[in-house]
Amino acid sequence: MTVFRTSGEYDASVRRFLLATAVAAALLGARERAVRSPRPQPNLGPTFNKEVVRIFQAQCQSCHHPGDIAPFSLMTYGDAFPNAALIKLKTQTRQMPPWKPVGGCGDFADPRVLTQEQIDTLGKWVDNGAPEGNASDLPAPLQFDGGWALGQPDLVLSNAQAYTPPISGDMYRCFTMPTNLTSDAYVAAIDVKPGDRNTVHHVIAFIDTYGESAKLEDKDGTGYQCFGGPGFAITSLSSATLGGWAPGARPVKLPEGVSLLLPGMSRIVLQVHYHPHSGSPKPDQTQIGIYYSKTKPTKLLRVLPLINQTFTIPPNDSNYRVAAEFSLTGPFAFDTHIWLIAPHMHLLGRKMHVSATLPTGQTQCLINIDDWDFNWQGMYRYNDPVAIPAGTKLSLEAFYDNSTNNLRNPNNPPQPVWWGEQTTDEMCIAFLGFTVDAENYAKGQVVNVSWARP
Ligand code: HEC
Repeated sequence: MTVFRTSGEYDASVRRFLLATAVAAALLGARERAVRSPRPQPNLGPTFNKEVVRIFQAQCQSCHHPGDIAPFSLMTYGDAFPNAALIKLKTQTRQMPPWKPVGGCGDFADPRVLTQEQIDTLGKWVDNGAPEGNASDLPAPLQFDGGWALGQPDLVLSNAQAYTPPISGDMYRCFTMPTNLTSDAYVAAIDVKPGDRNTVHHVIAFIDTYGESAKLEDKDGTGYQCFGGPGFAITSLSSATLGGWAPGARPVKLPEGVSLLLPGMSRIVLQVHYHPHSGSPKPDQTQIGIYYSKTKPTKLLRVLPLINQTFTIPPNDSNYRVAAEFSLTGPFAFDTHIWLIAPHMHLLGRKMHVSATLPTGQTQCLINIDDWDFNWQGMYRYNDPVAIPAGTKLSLEAFYDNSTNNLRNPNNPPQPVWWGEQTTDEMCIAFLGFTVDAENYAKGQVVNVSWARP
C-alpha cells in the first residue's frame, strides 16, 4: 500500500515492538490474575465483545474484512488480538480510519472519523491486554456479501474483456464502455462493484459525451493506461466526473429532484487503480451500477471545476503555492447551492483549501485537506447543501512539495512540473457539484450555465 508509505519502515519496527509489549502485557495480566485469584474476575474496562467490536463494525470492517482492501480482517477477536498494539497506534495518530478533510471545515456526510471517546476506548482496551469479554455481549456480525448496497441498479456496465493487472505494482487503467442510451438519462446514484477486491484500490467514473475515449483504447479491448484523468479533457463541457469509489465508501444518492445528466449515446469511462497486495492478481471486470432518478429532476447537478492549469512548480520547492479563483458575478451571477466537492491533485500535492467569500464579506470554509494522498481522494457530500449566492468569490489554495523529501515525488532529481495527465505531471482542481436556485428543469426552466456541465 502506498497510503502511509513514508512511515512503512518505522511502522514495521514499531509494530514488532508494540506487538511484543501487548502480548507480554496480556500474558502478564493473565498470570497476575491466576496468582491472585483462581476464579475469573469480571473484566475491567472495555472488552472486544462489548465496546471494541462495535467500533470496528461502525468504522473499520467495511475495509477490514476478508478479501477486501485492508491488510487484515477486524471481524473476530482472533483477527483483532494480534493487531491490538497497531490498532492503538494507528487510531491515536488518526491514520485509521483514513479520512482526509480536516475537522471544522465543511460538514460532510458519513465522516470516517473516530470520536476521542472511541479512540480512548480502543487505547484502554489495548492497555488492559485486549480482553475478549463475555460471549453474550457480542452483537450480530455484519454481512459482507459483495452485493449492491442500493439494490439492483438500472444499468450495469463493465468492460467486455477482463483485464489482469501486473503483479509488479500500481496500474491506472481506463475502461471505456458505451451506454447505448437512446435518450438522455438522469442519474441519482452510482455504485461500483470491484471484480477483484484484493487489487482494486479505487475507481473514478467519467462521462464521455462524444465518445473520445473509444479512440484511446488498446486494440485488444482491455482499456488503456491512464493516470490523472481519462485521457480526454475532464474540464470540457462534454465530460464530467460521475464520482469516485474507494473501499469503505457507501454509495451517495442525490436527493429527490436533483440529478446528473447522462447524455444519450454517451460513454462511461471507469478509471481503475490496481494495487496488487499479495499473490497473483486475478482477471478483473469491475462493474459500475447506475441508478436513475424516478422522476424528471427539478435541478441538474452541474460540475464547476475550480481550476488552475497554468502553473510551474519549481524543483526543490517543498511548499509551492498554486491558487485558483472564480466569481459568481457578471454573466455568472447565479444564486447556487453546493452539494459535493472533490479535490484533485497528483503526487506532489500536499494541501488544498477551498473557501467562499460571500457578498457580505463573510468567508465560508468549503474543504481543508492538509495531508493530501492521491490514493485516498474522495468526493465529499455536504450534510446540507451550502448556499453560495451571486456575488460570491470561490478561492482555492493548494501547496505542492517538489523536493526530495516528498517520498512520492516521481522525479529524481526533482524537475519543473506543470499541468498534465501523467504521473510526473500535476493538476490543481476542486470539482464543485452545484445546483442553480432559479432552475426548474422539469418545468422547462433551464438555466444556461455556459462554463459548467451540462
Ligand atoms: C476505507 C478503508 C479502511 C477503513 C475504514 C479502515 N482501514 Fe485500516 N487500513 C486500510 C488499508 C487499505 C490499510 C493498509 C494501509 C497501509 O498499508 O498503510 C489499513 C491499515 C491499517 C492498519 C495498519 C496495518 C499495518 O500493517 O500497518 C491498522 C492497525 C488499521 N488499518 C486499523 C484500522 C482500524 C482500527 C480501523 C477503524 C477504526 C480502520 N483501520 C479502518 C483501510 C481501512
